[in-house]
Amino acid sequence: WALFEEDVEAILALKRRRNAVVLAHNYQTPEIFHGVADIVGDSLLLAREATKVDAEVIVLAGVHFMAETAKLLNPGKTVLIPDLDAGCSLAESITADDVRLMRARHPGVPVVAYVNTSVAVKAESDVCCTSGNALEIVESLGTDHVIMLPDEYLARNVAAQTKVRITAWKGHCEVHERFTAEDVRTLRDDHPGVTVLAHPECPPEVVAEADFAGSTAAMSDYVGANRPARVVLLTECSMSDNVAVSYPDIAFIRPCNLCPHMKRITLKNIRHALETNTHEVTIDPAMAERARRSVERMLAV
Ligand code: 13P
Ligand code: SF4
Repeated sequence: WALFEEDVEAILALKRRRNAVVLAHNYQTPEIFHGVADIVGDSLLLAREATKVDAEVIVLAGVHFMAETAKLLNPGKTVLIPDLDAGCSLAESITADDVRLMRARHPGVPVVAYVNTSVAVKAESDVCCTSGNALEIVESLGTDHVIMLPDEYLARNVAAQTKVRITAWKGHCEVHERFTAEDVRTLRDDHPGVTVLAHPECPPEVVAEADFAGSTAAMSDYVGANRPARVVLLTECSMSDNVAVSYPDIAFIRPCNLCPHMKRITLKNIRHALETNTHEVTIDPAMAERARRSVERMLAV
């Protein structure tokens, strides 16, 4: 902790001086998550909380699409992302042109865009979803067919739980696609009785072998409610680090995978962001208007 103290103190002072809050995703490192964040959570909670922020400045400790979502919901506030290269393999996997092409191929079929997309893709979509509400959003549309993009595995994991026909894109999360069903079987052999939780961005055969699949917040809630003696979270590494702090009596078994994009955010660049007002997220107003509609429709469900 001594390593982090100076930056943590500086960030806390800067937050007071600038009337700023730090919104941090569950995959941020413990010194950010526990040291300087005002609000922590999954993508859905961060989007919901972004609508309630009173502060003038929001620092998004997460990836770029999360900062864009916060800006869409707070057009009048300053939203900062400490590293512009904190991207996401899912957001990179699809363009607005691809969405238009999907619509042309499936006329009249509503488009559900995962929040892990660019503003341009959200603007071409009907409604957004997160891993925390994907099934609910798909079923809320009242149609027997939806297009769900860009995460093929999230779409297939939702399709396994609904009668709605889902046409998917072929994007994958570079962190979750690496887990295999074989990994789960090996874990169970090596750690008898272990509870296996998986993020729904994992391949369906991994989710099928898990005890529970849910968003990062749902995994954290599951641990709190069920208090398994041994648990493995098939997701990004910081998740276990952050949850483990609250449950010293639970054994958190690794493996996990690192998200190189999430790991671009550090105490140093959060401090720098607040000192220099960088990097400010800006969105073309006309596109923002259309993208905001998709996010607000999601929040209204
Ligand atoms: P959650 O919405 O479950 O936090 O997931 C976001 C994400 O980027 C997972 O890889
Ligand atoms: Fe994107 Fe996967 Fe990283 Fe989440 S973990 S930000 S989905 S690349």
